Amino acid sequence: MDNNRYSSNRPRRKVSRRTYRNRRLAALAIIAFLILLLIVLIANACADDKDKKPKTDTKTAVTLTTTTTVTDSAIQTTTTTTVVATVPKNESDFKLDRQTISIMVDETDMPRVLEYPDGTVEADERWTSSDKTIATVDSYGHITGVSPGVCYVILKSAADVDQEVWIKVTVRGESADDDDDTTTPQSSRTEAPAPPVYDTEGLTYIDGILLVNKEYSVPATFEPKLEQICYDQFNKLSTDAAKENLSIYISSGYRSYKDQETIYNNYIEEEKKKGNSEAEAKKIVDTYSARPGYSEHQSGLCIDVNSVDDSFGYTPEAAWLAEHAHEYGFIIRYPLGKEAITGYQYEPWHIRYVGSKVAEKIYKKGLCLEEYLNVG
Ligand code: DAL
Ligand code: ZN
Repeated sequence: MDNNRYSSNRPRRKVSRRTYRNRRLAALAIIAFLILLLIVLIANACADDKDKKPKTDTKTAVTLTTTTTVTDSAIQTTTTTTVVATVPKNESDFKLDRQTISIMVDETDMPRVLEYPDGTVEADERWTSSDKTIATVDSYGHITGVSPGVCYVILKSAADVDQEVWIKVTVRGESADDDDDTTTPQSSRTEAPAPPVYDTEGLTYIDGILLVNKEYSVPATFEPKLEQICYDQFNKLSTDAAKENLSIYISSGYRSYKDQETIYNNYIEEEKKKGNSEAEAKKIVDTYSARPGYSEHQSGLCIDVNSVDDSFGYTPEAAWLAEHAHEYGFIIRYPLGKEAITGYQYEPWHIRYVGSKVAEKIYKKGLCLEEYLNVG
């Protein structure tokens, strides 16, 4: 069998040289066209692919652990917060004026959106908070501090799910209202910091405030003397009162355990001399004098001023003290009307140093210390 097709008996058509050249040119043109078409198709495919790829590469995310320490200098408390969040690795096409926000509790701030991703408009903004107990965010992006800590606020596009941007929010432990005081002279505020904190066993601190009352005592060995800050602030108070022709002076400051023991026992004897039994005497004295170990005078942070008797409450000095003590960091420790909570009768002469921030809050809200600290 002859496998050579050209050797068949079919007569071969004679092709002219000119026709042959034309056919070759046509073939070359077709090949060139096909190559061109191929190039165009490949280029389009690449362009399509690029458009479909998420611009933020949000599928490639990283788990971020942030440990932040927020210190409230006013009351010397420290909040350490660890936030674990899955944050997109790449930047999105949202452009914000900032991606970190630091606010106080109750304060509101918001990042401004400078640019939106293609196809996304303002109405497509979707704001969420990673932890609403730390900060909330509304539909416009207003972020409000709720409690000290760190969280993230996320801005997503409703039009393009791949577009999102994370804002780190640090909330500090002070209320923004705290600074909203136009009546207090700035100098007094800045010069009345929080009282010292001791690392001594047997002391009770709540929110950085040393609490001494009928329930919480101080050890007999705790002898801080009158705290310098308490003394300095009292001198400022006394100096300013003198400018208004008022005389406010210390009648009793720091007391040791022994001092308080003597004072308490003397009062018991006085009450017994009036004909009261031991039990009756204790019941009466307990309304105006602390038992040894339980007197705030042992903290070195309080002062009795002027005459320690009820008549003081009717003097202009007492009126001035009640209105201005907080400006120097003091509170009236045993206020009128709070006897059932403090356990002591009204003592308009007994002032306790807590620092101006806390003193202001207590003064403005009309609380006693136990109410402010939420104890008893
Ligand atoms: N007079 C106050 C209660 C004290 O003795 O500490
Ligand atoms: Zn006192």
